[in-house]
This record gives sequence, C-alpha cells and structure tokens, in this order.
Amino acid sequence: MRFDGRVAIITGAGGGLGRAHALELARRGAQVLVNDLGGSLDGSGASSSAAQRVVDEITAAGGVAAPNGDSVATPAGGQAIVQAALTAFGRVDILVNNAGILRDKAFHKMDQAMVDAVLDVHLKGAFYVSQPAFAAMRAQGYGRIISTSSASGLFGNFGQANYGAAKAGLAGLTRVLALEGAGHGVKVNAIAPIAATRMTKDLLGDLSSRVSPETVSPLVAYLAHEDCSVSGNVYSVAGGRIARIVVAETHGVVLAENTAESVRDRIEVIDDVTGSGLHLPTSLDDETTIIAKALAEG
Ligand code: NAI
Repeated sequence: MRFDGRVAIITGAGGGLGRAHALELARRGAQVLVNDLGGSLDGSGASSSAAQRVVDEITAAGGVAAPNGDSVATPAGGQAIVQAALTAFGRVDILVNNAGILRDKAFHKMDQAMVDAVLDVHLKGAFYVSQPAFAAMRAQGYGRIISTSSASGLFGNFGQANYGAAKAGLAGLTRVLALEGAGHGVKVNAIAPIAATRMTKDLLGDLSSRVSPETVSPLVAYLAHEDCSVSGNVYSVAGGRIARIVVAETHGVVLAENTAESVRDRIEVIDDVTGSGLHLPTSLDDETTIIAKALAEG
C-alpha cells in the first residue's frame, strides 16, 4: 500500500506516536508535513527542533517531508499548518490529528487554565486544522482524516476530566465529519491508542516494552489509504492488537407508565447489555428511527 503523490499533515509529529506515523507514511511514499510546536508535555514552551529532527530522519531515509512549528490550538495556527502543506506540496490528502498535551488533576482541584489548555489543543485544535483541510479535501473529492481519541474519554480515567472530555469530543467530531464527508470521498476515523511515549512514561509497567508507537502506525496507514473502507469508526490500538470501539444502545424499554418510579423499577432492564438487541446507531437519524419503531411497537 503506497502513498505516492499523496500529501499528509501529521500534527504533533516531532516525537512519540506522531513521529512514528510520519515515518511510516513517508516510507510508503507520502510527502509529509511534520507539524510540532515542540513544547513540553504540559504544553508550555516551543521549539522548532522537534519537527526538524523528524524531517531529517525522513529525508535521510529517502523520503520527502517539510517541517512546521505552528500551534494547532488557534484558528490562525490551523490555517497556517494546512497552508504550509499546500505551499510545500500543493495539496492535502491526509490529516492525522495527533498533537496533544496533559494537565492532569483531580476534578475538584482542576483550574480553568487546565481545562482551556487541554480543550484548546486536543479538541479545538482538531477543529482548527481539520476545517481548512476538510475544505481542501471536499473540493478535490478525496481525503482521509484520522483523529487521536483515547480510552481516557471513551471509558474514563481518574484525574483526566479535561483530557477525557476533549478525547470523547473527538469521537463525536469524527462521527459528524464522517457523515459530512461521505458524499465527497472524505473518510474520517479515530484511534484510541496505548503506546510507550513521554506521555505514558512510568505508567504502563510491563506493557511498555510491547506497545511501541510504531505498533500503532499500521492502523493509521490503513485509515489514511485509499483502500480504507470504513468511516466514522473508532479503534482501540496497541502493540498490534486492534479492536473497534462502538457506541451501542441497549434494546431499552417503553414504559407503560412513564414515571420516576417506573424508571427505578426497570433500571436494570434499561441498562441490560447482556440480552439480545443491542443497537449500534449509525447517526442521529438512525437513532430517531430506532426510537420511533420502539414507540410504535409499544
Ligand atoms: P507526545 O507528547 O510524545 O506527543 C505529542 C506531541 O504533540 C508532542 O510532540 C508535542 O510537542 C505536540 N504538541 C503539543 N501541543 C501542540 C500544539 N499546540 N501544536 C502542535 N503540536 C503540539 O505524546 P504521544 O503519546 O505521542 O501523544 C500523541 C497523541 O496520542 C496525543 O493526542 C495523545 O493524547 C494521544 N494518546 C496517547 C496515548 C499513549 O498511550 N501514548 C494514549 C491515548 C491517546
């Protein structure tokens, strides 16, 4: 699977997962814009050396890449990143929203700056870069967007209210963009990786030797390729193990008497995921159809 003639933007590609994705796509022929602000894990500081180092690695291996040091966290930064790819390579086919920071704290101690910084980079950052990229993709009738969500938001993780909310937001953004891109050849998916990077330093224990960033990149390459057959999906990926994460809905009940007491008495049935009849709605329209059918059947 080659990417000759294709142009990829990878945000936060100066290290960790983004670097691995950049090397993998470049190795397969993509021209890569290596974006990285080059700051510390909490988002402070900036340096152009991180992006440049990865560009040098790609170039040394015979690939084609250009560095970019803009921040994803502002509309102007997002525009500048996409413009840099257009200026360097003339088009944008692939966007990997990967840039990220951490500001962990128990919820009752989390201050406004921690909320803003994390939402700005992860969630709004994906908006700011995806919007101009999506416009270019829509106009050319082809594109692939892959965003980096997290088990933290999809399943929950102590001390990461800001990060988890942002990452769950990316799953929602993915669903909507998949629908909006469907008629224009634009496929949009998300990954929820686990990998040994500076972000997970000392957190993974024995697992860390089995989950290098490089083990996540094959899925990203597939989702970035024209062979990709899926859109709107979220995948758990770590160490070569890949699984789809779904948003499911139980069969549910239609209450004969719609009162708080009936809800209390039926809550276990409402919650039951073990019985048959789990729904996997593909859109809000689909969900509405499921509800209408249940109400009609009573
Ligand atoms: P990392 O810290 O090595 O990579 C993140 C990169 O994003 C850094 O190079 C950083 O300089 C860059 N960055 C930060 N703010 C930026 C901004 N405003 N503009 C441009 N670049 C910026 O960490 P890692 O683990 O490689 O993280 C990559 C992505 O994967 C992040 O979105 C992270 O939340 C996500 N993720 C990672 C997991 C893991 O197990 N490592 C688990 C789940 C999600």
